[in-house]
Amino acid sequence: MTTTDTDSTAAKSPTGEELLSVTGLVKHFPIRRGVLQRQTGAVQAVDGLDFTVTKGETFSLVGESGCGKTTTGRLLTRLLEPTAGKIVFEGRDITHMSEGKIRPLRKDVQMIFQDPYGSLNPRHTVGKIVGAPYKLQHVKTEGGTKKAVQELLELVGLSPEHYNRYPHEFSGGQRQRIGIARTLALRPKLIVADEPVSALDVSIQAQVVNLLEDLQNEFDLTYVMIAHDLSVVRHVSDRVAVMYLGKIVEIADRVDLYETPMHPYTLALLSAVPIPDTKRRARQERIRLQGDVPSPINPPPACRFHTRCWKAQDICKTVEPPLLQLAPGHQTACHFPENQPGGDAPKTGTAG
Ligand SMILES: Nc1ncnc2c1ncn2[C@@H]1O[C@H](COP(=O)(O)OP(=O)(O)OP(=O)(O)O)[C@@H](O)[C@H]1O
Ligand code: SF4
Ligand SMILES: [Mg+2]
Repeated sequence: MTTTDTDSTAAKSPTGEELLSVTGLVKHFPIRRGVLQRQTGAVQAVDGLDFTVTKGETFSLVGESGCGKTTTGRLLTRLLEPTAGKIVFEGRDITHMSEGKIRPLRKDVQMIFQDPYGSLNPRHTVGKIVGAPYKLQHVKTEGGTKKAVQELLELVGLSPEHYNRYPHEFSGGQRQRIGIARTLALRPKLIVADEPVSALDVSIQAQVVNLLEDLQNEFDLTYVMIAHDLSVVRHVSDRVAVMYLGKIVEIADRVDLYETPMHPYTLALLSAVPIPDTKRRARQERIRLQGDVPSPINPPPACRFHTRCWKAQDICKTVEPPLLQLAPGHQTACHFPENQPGGDAPKTGTAG
C-alpha cells in the first residue's frame, strides 16, 4: 500500500514481479425458466477482464454496485468457476484446477468478506473460527492451535482472552478483525479484501484500513482491494482498476488515476469523492451521472457506458472501445478519452 498524503509522490511499484495474471476472465450466471429449467439468458456479471497484480502491491477494483467486483474476487480465489478466460497465479494456470489440486492454493489466496456479521458462524467461538483454517488444511502449528490463534488475535489488535467468546459479543470493527485474523492463519500471499470496511462506522474504517496496511508490511502481502467508491482506496492503492457493468474501463497508477483520469466514467466516480476546494467541486458537479446502471442481463452494446455518457457519439453505440495503453501504465477503454498526453483537455485535478 501507499499511504503518502502528497500525490506528487509516485505510487510504488513493489517488486515488479507478477503474482497474478488474468486474461479474458468471464463469469455469466445462467438464468433458467420453466419446468425444464431451460436457459433463457445470462447475467453477464464479469465479461472479459484483463489485468495483472504485482507482488507486494495493493491493486484496487472500484465500481458501482452490481458491476461485478465481488464476482471477480470470488473468481480469483476460485470460490467460483469461471465461464471463460484464464487465471495464472505464481506462473501456474489455476483457472479450472480441481478441488484436490487447489487445496494448497487455498492457503496462498484468501478472501476477506464484505459483511463481518454474515461471514462468521455465530455458534462458533472466536478460537474455533480463527483456528478453522489450520484444521481444514491439516496444518500443525508449533505450540498448538490455541497458541497460534491467540497470537493471531494479538496481531489484529484483539486480546488472547477473546478466544472463548462468540462473534455477537463484538462490535463490527472487532468482528472484521476476527475475519482478518482467520484470513492470516495460513500466511497467505494474496488477499482479496471485498469492501472490508464498507459495513463499518466511518470512525473505525481508518483503523481497519491501517491494520491491513501494517499487516501488508509485516507479511509481504499483496492485496486486491474491492471498493465501490474511489475515496476509500484513495490512499492505500498502488494501482486502481475501474469497473463498469462487468468490464474494466480504466487501469492506472494511483496518482495518474486521481489526477489525470481518462475515462468519462472515472471522472464521474471522482465527482463523488469529497473535495474541500469548492471551486473544483463546482466544476466536478457538472459531470455528475444521470440515470441508473443498466442491467447486466441485457447490457448496452459496444461501449456499455454510452447510455449515461455525456460524450457519447454514434461510434460508441456500435464499436466497442478496446482497453488501450494511452500513457505509460495507463489503460483506458474509450473512443474519446479525457486528459490524453498531448491533448488539450484540462486535468481534473481531484488530488488533495
Ligand atoms: N450467484 C449469482 N447468480 C446470479 N447472478 C448473480 C450471482 N452473483 C452475482 N450475480 C449478479 O452479478 C452481478 C454482479 O454482482 P457482484 O456481486 O459481483 O457485484 P458487486 O460489484 O460486488 O456489487 P456490490 O457493490 O453491490 O457488492 C449483479 O447483477 C448480481 O446480481
Ligand atoms: S466510448 Fe463513448 S460512450 Fe463510451 S465512455 Fe467513451 S465517449 Fe463515452
Ligand atoms: Mg460486492
